[in-house]
Amino acid sequence: MALTKNEIRLAEKYSHITKQPEYQLLKSIPRHGNTNTYEHSIRVAYAAYRLARKMGVDPESAALVGLLHDFCLINYHDRSAGKVSRSWYCLHHPREAIQNASRILELSKEEQKAILSHMFPLALHVPSSSLALVLTLADKQVATAEGISSAAETCLGAGKKTGNYVSRKLRGILEKH
Ligand SMILES: [Fe+2]
Ligand SMILES: [Fe+2]
Repeated sequence: MALTKNEIRLAEKYSHITKQPEYQLLKSIPRHGNTNTYEHSIRVAYAAYRLARKMGVDPESAALVGLLHDFCLINYHDRSAGKVSRSWYCLHHPREAIQNASRILELSKEEQKAILSHMFPLALHVPSSSLALVLTLADKQVATAEGISSAAETCLGAGKKTGNYVSRKLRGILEKH
C-alpha cells in the first residue's frame, strides 16, 4: 500500500522528525498487514491533520501526534522478543513513543496525553481532549484501511497493484466522512 502524494508531502514538511535516523528505523518495524510503522505513522498524521481541520482542532498538533504516536522500535510480531513485544505491547508502546519523541522535540502535555490514549478502547487511558479523539479515530481509520488493503494483496493473491487500488478507494470513502 503506497503512500499518496499528500502523505509524502506531509512527511517532507515534517522532515525534522521523519529524517531522524531513529525515526527512519520505523521502516523496519512491521505494522498492520503488509505495512511498516513509518508509513503507518505518515498515514495517521495525514488523516489526523484532515480530521482536525474538520473538527476545529489544531491540525499541526494533530499531524505531530499522528507522526509520533507509534514511535516505538519494538517489533510486536517477533515472538522471540519477550513479553513486552506481545501481551503488553498494546499498553507499553504509547509510553515508549513519548520517551522516544522527547529526544527529538518537546511535546505539550495535551499532545502526550493524546498519544497515551490512542489505543482506546484496548488500553486503559480514555481520550480526554478533542486532539486525543482525533488521533484515536485517525489511527483506527488508517489501521482498517491497511488491514483490508493487505488482505486484498495477500489473501486474495491479487498483488500490490490491486491492494493499492482497494486502499485508494477505501480511503476515498472514509475521507468523505
Ligand atoms: Fe499504536
Ligand atoms: Fe497506530
